[in-house]
Amino acid sequence: MALRKAVIGIDVGTSGTKAVLVDQFGHTVRDCMISYSFDVPVALWAEQDPSVWWDATVQAVSTLMHELEVENDEIQVEGISLTGQMHGLVCLDKHAMPIRKAILWCDLRSNDEARQLEAQIGRQTVCALTQNPPLPNFTLTKLLWLKEHEPESFHRIATFLLPKDYIRFLMTGVLATEPTDASGTLLFDVEHRIWSKEMARLSGIPLTWLPPVVESTALAGMITKEAGMLLGVPEGTKVFAGAGDQAAGALGIGVLQEGELSVSLGTSGVVLAPTKAPVRDPDGALHTFCHVAPQSFYVMGVTQTAGGSLKWFRDRLRKGTSYDTIMSDAASRPPGAEGLLFLPYLMGERSPLLDPLARGAWIGLQWQHTDADMARSLIEGVSFSLLDCLRRIEALRIDPWDVKLTGGGADGPLWVQILGAVLKRSIRVLRGSQGPAYGAAVIAAIGAKLIQWDDVSKFVADTDVTPAEYNPMWASAYESLFPLYQQAYRDLRKLYASIDEWVSNKIT
Ligand code: XUL
Repeated sequence: MALRKAVIGIDVGTSGTKAVLVDQFGHTVRDCMISYSFDVPVALWAEQDPSVWWDATVQAVSTLMHELEVENDEIQVEGISLTGQMHGLVCLDKHAMPIRKAILWCDLRSNDEARQLEAQIGRQTVCALTQNPPLPNFTLTKLLWLKEHEPESFHRIATFLLPKDYIRFLMTGVLATEPTDASGTLLFDVEHRIWSKEMARLSGIPLTWLPPVVESTALAGMITKEAGMLLGVPEGTKVFAGAGDQAAGALGIGVLQEGELSVSLGTSGVVLAPTKAPVRDPDGALHTFCHVAPQSFYVMGVTQTAGGSLKWFRDRLRKGTSYDTIMSDAASRPPGAEGLLFLPYLMGERSPLLDPLARGAWIGLQWQHTDADMARSLIEGVSFSLLDCLRRIEALRIDPWDVKLTGGGADGPLWVQILGAVLKRSIRVLRGSQGPAYGAAVIAAIGAKLIQWDDVSKFVADTDVTPAEYNPMWASAYESLFPLYQQAYRDLRKLYASIDEWVSNKIT
């Protein structure tokens, strides 16, 4: 068999690390996922030991390479690239050792720091410098939390990295980041694709802590001898910078142009629309980040717990029940579940509410309701939260017509039907897409010059795409229910703050 060229994409995710081997034609040759979980030492905290990511990366990549060897598959790895969960804070000391566990994207402990930053610097200034408002999800507020609560850790920091950048550092020995992931730190000038020295100065972060920035497809380093032995990859293999998981996921399904929308239903839910220039929501309710291609950007809304809500429901309330059973129960109930509304704010809410204190709720429970209604309303509530984000995108005069859906939520028909009717759009469903890891492989393919930017849509065309039309009767039921969903949060907002106060007073 002739020697084939291939690349490896690695996704350092929240629930696992995945490696995919993709050949020069864009076909996935094999993949390997190593799962793990995150620690919640205190409510609303989320931490992971970076060594867990490294062990999983070693296991995933070495498994791929070992399988190739066993099957005598003649493949030459031309390059590797990485993607990963965004915003996570990995602090390194002067010996480049992690100082503590990483504080993850979904960790909301730095809400006070976000509010203080806003009070000190002003929301408008932060938005003008970085395109985004202070939020506890972003890396900077996590750093400021450390300064306040763990000064001994803060003073040992020599540099900090994002999760995938730390793994690339272990592979290559080179410190670097790239614009798509740096966008989510709140220290990055998204418009000019460079660190914002002014934001660093105003927030008291030394410039020496900020790793060098290279573009996503740039060569960021080579596999070292030690890493090569562990990974089963030749020393000197090129490693390209990569991208944050949302940008990489969109690239992997070819969502690069204005008019396209990627919707992903994973643990979090995301609606993402590419733009030619940075476009900002006036209230900062959407994120404005760099996209992978040079001089490209996107706006994005994030629902904190999308598939996460369903997982919570299954694990906590319907122990032992399969997702298939829960979905077929939900399918047996009518749209709107006889007046039952679910608010999916189990870890606060990001877009468009920007409210870490928001809480999940079922509103409208009556005697006749069953767990099937609860399941139906949960799926509808998550879909409404994505519509809430899409409405904000539309208000920016972006009207995406080409909607592509990925993630676990795309696997069965019901969520696709409900989402289509809620968004009132036909959807192209990409089942079996390899997610952000595949996007990282595309970056490696461009970096290694196996393809050019113009070849991307052909390269990624391999995934199984099913067009799904929506049911107009459902759409009209949801159209009239959505304002009630929005009103529910408005009516509960003050109550959420009081509950938070009550909980804090009770603990102290
Ligand atoms: C994006 C975000 C999540 C994480 C986890 O802003 O917070 O999508 O990247 O995957």
